[in-house]
Parts: sequence; C-alpha cells; structure tokens
Amino acid sequence: MVKIFVPAAVKLFGEHAVVYGKPAISAAINKGVYVECEKSDKLSIETAGYPSALRFYPGEGRVEAVGAERFFAYINAALRLAEEKWGGLAARFYIKSELPPGAGAATSAAVSIGLLKAYALCAGGDVEGIELAKMGHRVELEVQGIASPMDSTTVTLGGVLKIKTNPFSVDKLNANLPPFYIAFLPRFETTGEIVRGVKALLERRRSAAFVIEAIGRVVEEAEQCLLNRDLECVGELMGINNWLLGALGVVDERAINLLNAARPFIYGGKISGAGRGGAVILLPRSEDALERVLSASGYVYHKVTIYEGGVTVL
Ligand code: PMV
Repeated sequence: MVKIFVPAAVKLFGEHAVVYGKPAISAAINKGVYVECEKSDKLSIETAGYPSALRFYPGEGRVEAVGAERFFAYINAALRLAEEKWGGLAARFYIKSELPPGAGAATSAAVSIGLLKAYALCAGGDVEGIELAKMGHRVELEVQGIASPMDSTTVTLGGVLKIKTNPFSVDKLNANLPPFYIAFLPRFETTGEIVRGVKALLERRRSAAFVIEAIGRVVEEAEQCLLNRDLECVGELMGINNWLLGALGVVDERAINLLNAARPFIYGGKISGAGRGGAVILLPRSEDALERVLSASGYVYHKVTIYEGGVTVL
C-alpha cells in the first residue's frame, strides 16, 4: 500500500499578478490531501473528507453540501497523464482532503500531485521535485485553461517559496512564519472563471495593468519583511495586497467584513487564491481573541503552520 501526504498551500502575496509574469510568495501548510493506492483487479477512485464540503452562510444559518465534483476534473486529467507516462494500472485509490476544494488553498493541485505520485509508485515508477510539479501544472492548465505553476510547485516542494514565472524559477525563503489562520467563505465560481474575469478586465481597462505592477512591487517588499521576520510589515503588506486585489474585483464584501471583524487581533490578512469567496488568511496578534471572533461569527477556520516537507511518502 502506498500512502502520500501532499500539503495544501496559501498564497501569501502575489496571486493573479503571477499569471502575468510577476513574482509571488506562497506557503505550504500542515493540512492537505492524503492519497492511498493499493493494487486491485480494476481501477477505482474513492474520495472522502471534503468531497461533501460544507458551505456555511454566516448570518443566514444555512449550510449546503458542495464540492466533490470540483476535484473530479483534476482527478480525470491527472489519471490520463499518469496512464500516458506509466501505462494502465489496476488499483484502488483513496483520496481524502482536510480542506475544501476550489477555495484558494491549492487542494486541487494537491489532489493532482498526490494522485500522480501515488500512481507512479503503485506502478513501480517514481517522479519527484520540479518534474512532478510540472506534471501537476499541466493538469491545472488542462482543467482551468489559465494557471500559473505556483500551486503545483508549492505543494510539491513545501515551505515558503518565491515563485517567478518569466522565466520560471523558485527560491525557498527562510521565513519562519508563526502559526496563522485560514478561514473559508463559500465560493461559487471556479478558479478558471475568476482568472478569466481578471483577464477580461485587463483587456478592457489599460490602467488595471498598474494594479498588477503594484502587486509585483508588494511581493518584492514582502520578501524582505518575511526574511527579517518583521510581522508588522508582513501584515501591513498583506493589507495593501488585499486592497490591490480588490481593485481587480476579486475581494468581495464578505472578505472585507471578515477582515474588519478580525482587525484588532491580527497583524494583517488577505484573501488567498482566486478570491470572490474561498480562503482568507489571518496573521494573529492574539490567537485566543481571533479564535473567539471567528467562532462567534460562525466562520469555518483552521489554525495552520508552515509545512516544510512538500510531498511526503508516509
Ligand atoms: O484559488 P486558487 O487556489 O485556485 O488559486 C488561484 C491563484 C491565481 O493566481 C489566481 C491563479 C494561478 O494560477 O496562479
């Protein structure tokens, strides 16, 4: 039996702009996706955990089950790629995500990477590092149409990474961030739809290019703050990054309300990922006070730490 853990990841700085060649800083976290593979008489895939993810509507007291289908496109595309590389395989795969799909925590990339790695090992082969990350990126491109290599690289390598896309390079940052929080808002659109919406805005309004430029500058400054372990600076730049993402139309009122409620108890925070719902990350000044605010408002949230390990064979 092969067992793999692939960390999920948050975007600390630079999402969306990274699609247009700007650098970004992302971080693998200690929650993610487990994939198991066991030889069997036919190919089957079972999913558990978040496939029946819950959408909770704070204030409305409404809960809805969603999500499993969001992984399926990635699972199918990853399987096709794996078959191409390692040939057909009769095996039972079991995939369990600790975090919701399609919500800005790179769980789709983690599912793809975990499936590719487990398939390789189960078929008697192997793949790792940048080669594995590139295969995961191909899956994302196929499913979403537009995708940067940020998520697939981060979940594969682990740690806090500065990613450049033009040309591609990746640096591990010695950031040593303390534990932080990730809260989830319901998200109704897919990453591909939101990324295409930003692309349309950039085509319609030339001045929006300056927002992309400004996000790139924030990333450069944030790298220094992270290396200096200057949390005041990291938090302040998260705030600036979030307003710039707001200018691109991807930060909605729900994220702003959450950040406003948390404001007295955080260094800063921002959405993580494509936006319009999904993940919001919060860098706490006071963990207890922040948890009280998040619980009282009914948000789904997790306390997480940086996971240095990347793809891990258990
Ligand atoms: O919401 P997510 O986890 O799919 O992240 C999307 C990040 C973007 O920068 C908006 C797109 C990308 O491919 O980098």
